[in-house]
Amino acid sequence: MDLRHFLQFKDFSREEFDYLFERTRWIKDKFKRYEPYHPLFDRTLVMIFEKASTRTRLSFEAGMHQLGGSAIYLNTRDSQLGRGEPVEDAAQVISRMSDVVMIRTFEQAIIERFAANSRVPVINGLTNEYHPCQILADIYTFIEHRGSIQGKTVAWVGDSNNMCNTWLQAAEVLDFNVHVSTPPGYEIEPEQAGLYGTGHFESFADPMAACQGADLVTTDVWTSMGYEAENEARMKAFADWCVDGDMMRVAAPDALFMHCLPAHRGEEVTAEVIDGPHSVVWEEAENRLHVQKALMEFLLLGRIEN
Ligand code: CP
Ligand code: NVA
Repeated sequence: MDLRHFLQFKDFSREEFDYLFERTRWIKDKFKRYEPYHPLFDRTLVMIFEKASTRTRLSFEAGMHQLGGSAIYLNTRDSQLGRGEPVEDAAQVISRMSDVVMIRTFEQAIIERFAANSRVPVINGLTNEYHPCQILADIYTFIEHRGSIQGKTVAWVGDSNNMCNTWLQAAEVLDFNVHVSTPPGYEIEPEQAGLYGTGHFESFADPMAACQGADLVTTDVWTSMGYEAENEARMKAFADWCVDGDMMRVAAPDALFMHCLPAHRGEEVTAEVIDGPHSVVWEEAENRLHVQKALMEFLLLGRIEN
């Protein structure tokens, strides 16, 4: 089997995502029926965290155990990773003792260097540039509630961050549209987003205009991990980019609201919205578990026909 990695959303084709979404449904249904499923018996996942996490750690660790394997947690504070061991050397060693590696780190270049020296599949658990596992869960959640995302409109309100970049890539791969509204000075950089330039996004100065008729409204923190020094300036710049009831009212009547979490009520979203009837944030978080189980199965075993 060819060695595959999931470092950014466009690493997989539309057809592969269709397979993964179908597979997620099957794995999730089986899990909900309490039926054991251990295709990754005896396999080991290593999780490397250079930034904090609740959902990513929990969903990968629980997911690997549920598939019959085991998971090992490493962080920069108490491993040699934080003491300057070259990422290439770490990749050589870690990938000789494990079957799959998940990394949460800073620059995308770090995970690319790791993958280039790894003997096993590498999964991006968030970098400054991308968060592909989260978007996998978000799109699966959309499909569960509304069917295919093809041709639909997603409104992104807020920072042009790793989540935004990944939505933009996903729009090109899966053929939907993203309406982006960011404050002045925080606009998206199509090259950093890794876009092919197929025009699946439109920028709006006014967040209300971006939300008009949208099938899904989504946002994220104003200050991502690693950018804490900019927090004060960002709080001022983003004040009008809070997803509120008015924005949801101009979206499609059955629009969904998503947020990757953790959220700050009263900053990027009001409590009325995140705790309101359009919000699917808890299912979205749960689906990290199910999509990542399908992802690990695919990377380690290839396609499974039932
Ligand atoms: N959404 C997400 O990745 O959450 P954590 O930072 O808690 O992993
Ligand atoms: N954009 C956020 C996502 C956290 C899950 C960050 O990078 O901190």
